[in-house]
Amino acid sequence: MTTPLLLTCPVGLEDLVRGDLRDRHDVHSTLVSLGTIRCESPVSRDRLPAMVDRVAVPLGVPDNDLSPAQVTAVLREIDWRSYGLEDEVPFRVHLPGESSRARRDELTQAVSAALGWRNDPSHWSVNLDVSEEAMTAGTIRAELGPWAWAARFGLFERLPATTPGPVAAGLLRLAKLQDGQTLLDVCGGVGTVPVLDGLLRAGRSITVDNDTASVAAAGRNVVSHDLAGRVEVLDADASDLPLAAGTVDRVVSDLPFGKRIGSNEQNRTLYPAILREVERVLTADGRCVLLSDDKRVFAESVAKARGLKIAGERVIRYNGVTPTAYIVRRSRRQKKRGR
Ligand SMILES: C[S@@+](CC[C@H](N)C(=O)[O-])C[C@H]1O[C@@H](n2cnc3c(N)ncnc32)[C@H](O)[C@@H]1O
Repeated sequence: MTTPLLLTCPVGLEDLVRGDLRDRHDVHSTLVSLGTIRCESPVSRDRLPAMVDRVAVPLGVPDNDLSPAQVTAVLREIDWRSYGLEDEVPFRVHLPGESSRARRDELTQAVSAALGWRNDPSHWSVNLDVSEEAMTAGTIRAELGPWAWAARFGLFERLPATTPGPVAAGLLRLAKLQDGQTLLDVCGGVGTVPVLDGLLRAGRSITVDNDTASVAAAGRNVVSHDLAGRVEVLDADASDLPLAAGTVDRVVSDLPFGKRIGSNEQNRTLYPAILREVERVLTADGRCVLLSDDKRVFAESVAKARGLKIAGERVIRYNGVTPTAYIVRRSRRQKKRGR
């Protein structure tokens, strides 16, 4: 397989991605910039950590010479079949702006003529990013559509507050789930976290939400990912969970936070109510990963909770928000209940 590859992931998860590549697959990588990692040794598509969003082949264009002749010469050197791409690869050229139209068209025609590729801006397998931005960052690249997160894990029905897949993967990674354990998402929305968990691991996953549209979409996401019977969808209130005490090993949830859903004021009562229920259903050695941008309210709510404490924090940046993923555990060892 041709190397290197450029991987993008949510900012704040780079060390986890690089650690997994190294420890699980012996893949050496370097950090290019926030959210961008360069794999220096070969890695196959099915070994990419689920936190990886987009994948690209860097185009080492000498002296940033973006002439059609130079770009096509570089493209011809690459073994596209090793990335699963056959003849007549559908592609597009990313060079935005009306003033760039002539250069974009010229490059598109040159690539079609030289490689036999087919220009298809809406169903591309390769996106040639030769934008000013990529040139300035030194990351002119050929993005691989079939290697992107949605192509690897399937399309999810989404709503405005839906957690991006690679972020959900980061939360699951922090939860350190083992096969056979039970995962609960108390504010599961369309079910991104439990559905992804179902794809990654053997064990029970439960998604809870009290919004009718979210619960319906979660049900459809479970079915479209062939996880019926594996991921349970419950229409319930996170502050009154229909689950027995001490039955959940891990709680992983992207909580409502002011700017997206609910409000800062509502969270002052919602967070303590959720934490009371989480404390009740969690096993004695349970662990939670809870994402919130309502940081003060969250920290105050945990401080007030009788038996929980914040054991770790990690700021994640994506889509213009910078919430914190809080690792929450029991503050003292308790006798196991309900098992
Ligand atoms: C940030 S979104 C979660 C997104 C989810 N991870 C997904 O990918 O769709 C927060 C969710 O909390 C839900 N929610 C708010 N209050 C709730 C409550 N009291 N009980 C259960 N769910 C609640 C909202 O309906 C919303 O779907």
